[in-house]
Amino acid sequence: MSNYQANEKINLQLIQNSLSTRYIGQTIYYREQLESTNTFAKQEANNLTDGCVVLCDIQSAGHGRMNRYWYSAPYKNINMSVIIKPNIQPQLAPRFTILSAVSLCEMLKDLGFDAQIKWPNDIIVNKRKVAGILLDCTIEGNIVKYVVAGIGINVNTAIFEGELSSKATSLYIECGVEHSREQLIAAILNTLERNIGSVYSSAGYESLMQRYKDMSYVLGKTVTVLGISSQTEGEVIGFDEMGQIIIITKLGNIVTFNSGEISIKY
Ligand code: BTN
Repeated sequence: MSNYQANEKINLQLIQNSLSTRYIGQTIYYREQLESTNTFAKQEANNLTDGCVVLCDIQSAGHGRMNRYWYSAPYKNINMSVIIKPNIQPQLAPRFTILSAVSLCEMLKDLGFDAQIKWPNDIIVNKRKVAGILLDCTIEGNIVKYVVAGIGINVNTAIFEGELSSKATSLYIECGVEHSREQLIAAILNTLERNIGSVYSSAGYESLMQRYKDMSYVLGKTVTVLGISSQTEGEVIGFDEMGQIIIITKLGNIVTFNSGEISIKY
């Protein structure tokens, strides 16, 4: 993946050359600049087909979980949203969080990175965040009408300033080599399609969940979970089938969280 030319627009033909999917990524909407690929995908979801991908090179108002700003240097990284129209019941929607995190982590491990998942779906390399996932679900009646899986990967960013310098990393920082974003995009889409069947069967999902646990950065560690209005310290003892984190506190109470931010104590 060397010989990469920085500051060039994403080349859709190069993605197609490495894509082996049947439907995920067969249609790609590329815009040089968008506020946010997730916002665009949600606005256009009714016009977009199952498996469509939205990509941009400059994301001016990218956002992450808990409404936080997502910084991405123009032309350097991957800003991508995948639209899935799964036709499943809302209680199964969290499975897409697990699917996205496992697929992204497996793709990076295949490339030789020592990647792990920090609950719920941050991807960590060398103790720093290299990628984040933002899942937006739209439910109509008793059916998930569509899932927008927003994936941001720090690929060729050479340096992070200020607060981010101790928290964020990129593939370039980790290995000193620039990567082809097109090949990475194709690799993620190939991995997503390879894994997506697991969401629809109990046995498949059990295996996906097991891989999620095996790649966890937080399982067995003592953490603080920052919720919207609470702060809980304890050891991470597992994740349930909804992808919720299970903690045991010093007092022996077992507490489950479906959202929040983790900070690791030891
Ligand atoms: C997080 O770490 O909280 C999630 C970050 C998700 C960022 C991606 S970049 C592509 C897509 N568009 C957005 O505005 N956000 C996601």
